[in-house]
Amino acid sequence: MDTIPSFAEELSAWLGARFAAAFPDSPEAARAGRVVPSAKAGFGDFQCADAMQLARPLRLPPRKIAEAALAGAALPDCVERAEVAGAGYVNLTLKAEALAARACAVAEDGAHGGVPQLGAGRTVVVDYSSPNVAKSMHIGHIRSTVIGGSVVEILRALGYEVIGDNHIGDWGTQFGIIIKGYREFADRDALARDPVPELERIYKESYARAKADEAWMDACRAETVKLQQGDPENRALWQDFIRMSRHTFDEIYERLGISFETTRGESYYQPQLAAMVERLEKAGLAHESRGAVVVDLRDLDPAFAEQSRKAVEAALAKNDAESAAREDGKWICIVRKEDGGFNYNTTDLATMETREKDYRPARIVIITDDRQIPHFQQLFAITQKLGLVSPGTDLVHVAFGTITDENGHPFSTRSGGMPKLKELLDEAASRALAIVREKNPDLPDADARALAETIGIGAVKYSDLAMDPITTIRFSWDAVLSLQGNSGPYLQYAHARIRSLLAKYAEAFPGEDWRAAPILLGDPLERALARRILAFPETVVAAGAKCRPNLVADYLFCLAQDYSSFYQKLSVLKAEDPAVRVGRARLCAAVASVLRRGLALLGIRAPERM
Ligand code: ARG
Repeated sequence: MDTIPSFAEELSAWLGARFAAAFPDSPEAARAGRVVPSAKAGFGDFQCADAMQLARPLRLPPRKIAEAALAGAALPDCVERAEVAGAGYVNLTLKAEALAARACAVAEDGAHGGVPQLGAGRTVVVDYSSPNVAKSMHIGHIRSTVIGGSVVEILRALGYEVIGDNHIGDWGTQFGIIIKGYREFADRDALARDPVPELERIYKESYARAKADEAWMDACRAETVKLQQGDPENRALWQDFIRMSRHTFDEIYERLGISFETTRGESYYQPQLAAMVERLEKAGLAHESRGAVVVDLRDLDPAFAEQSRKAVEAALAKNDAESAAREDGKWICIVRKEDGGFNYNTTDLATMETREKDYRPARIVIITDDRQIPHFQQLFAITQKLGLVSPGTDLVHVAFGTITDENGHPFSTRSGGMPKLKELLDEAASRALAIVREKNPDLPDADARALAETIGIGAVKYSDLAMDPITTIRFSWDAVLSLQGNSGPYLQYAHARIRSLLAKYAEAFPGEDWRAAPILLGDPLERALARRILAFPETVVAAGAKCRPNLVADYLFCLAQDYSSFYQKLSVLKAEDPAVRVGRARLCAAVASVLRRGLALLGIRAPERM
């Protein structure tokens, strides 16, 4: 369906024309008339405060200005009343039918939920999850996976063609270390049983030996070189490690309901890297420096030059020449190492080039922890300068805060390390199961387990998505698994409660069809609920523009709270007037449908019962 018009826009256009007509000579009045949802009940549904700003240029009291704008005006069809209030506000009250009709249009629009299809005909690449081969996914990876999964859903809801790309770390010197360790001391049984922890153990042990023993280190390097030169045996081993790791990752993705359009690991881009460095050199962006090839970002981007200058000056002011040198070095980006090898920077440049060629994306979104902010600043600056993507391509790094232990300290291996993702999900599901069993003792075991998995996963995802990505998370089992307050289960429960209310309604009033019943909106709590429903499309637009699923989470929490205020005060099944009753049923159904749709944008399922 077409975009559902927004009241705020429509009313702003109307009131803007009124101000302009009332004060034709004033440039300030020509820009006035911005209408926003009213801050408080009792001030109409929408409000404009511009008369206060006009008082000075027009040399008139604000109330007089507001009155002049409204004088003799025919109201738009959707408006019941326009009044001047307080110091000079214009308060607009909508006709209940108009408000109800648009709320229904949003909630009952099966295709898009009223969300404007701003992305139609455009492609976005979302690079997320991206774990490293031969390492377990720990709860740090959950952030990229969960935030990315939600960003994908939100962009898709806006009509974008979304390519989710899992940029796994499947290349690098660590493979020589693993191959050497594998040859010397792999436990084949452990590998067959649960490969990733064993690969991790092999890596750690071989790495420790390499650090202590020069000969071991050389042997590891030799294995890496053999792998890079295409030695069949090493390549077969390397492919095996990837296969085993991906199998383990896939189990987690399946549980989380995540799937990717493509999984191109770092190795995919290796054949392009030499040419990429040449391209940089030809464009005059890269040069040799002490055996390496580097891009000097200070030459490239005035912003980097400025940052670099500030950092150096600050260090010198503290009489710290060494740190000045170091700060300055930060703005140098190595694209070929002294030993001739390429690195993360080179690979990411080639990744940009390939994405442009294959998808011509309007936007590329990459989701990693905030330690990589400088990397992506550099990458985006070079990408644009070299013209690796078309001008105007929106390059976005969504950085998320790291996860620390309960005391705010980084997880250390000594303290048992960061909990593994699988353990977290298992624990979440088992805590949820206890609650499901308590609330629904008659539910068959398989159903109870399925429900508990849905609730547990929802809780884990929501606890992450409810926060602005950049926030640092102090990990605590209790907070993640909380089933109350602003939590996933709370929203799932709000939805399930409405669904069961509607089922009861159908039983109690079998002849009544609420699907087409007028929603009367006689009570302010009902109006508030309808207005909240209307805000769903603009919430999705904002969340998509900023890649911030937490805007959707906040919205859903407010919607659930509005619903709960409504439901505490007004009865549905027991409403006296049948017309009010059936209209309320339709309003409830509308809330349930927006809750379900919004949870889906967070990658959270909304069960029918809980
Ligand atoms: N594998 C990397 C890590 O675990 C993240 C990769 C993110 N994507 C990218 N194009 N660099 O830190």
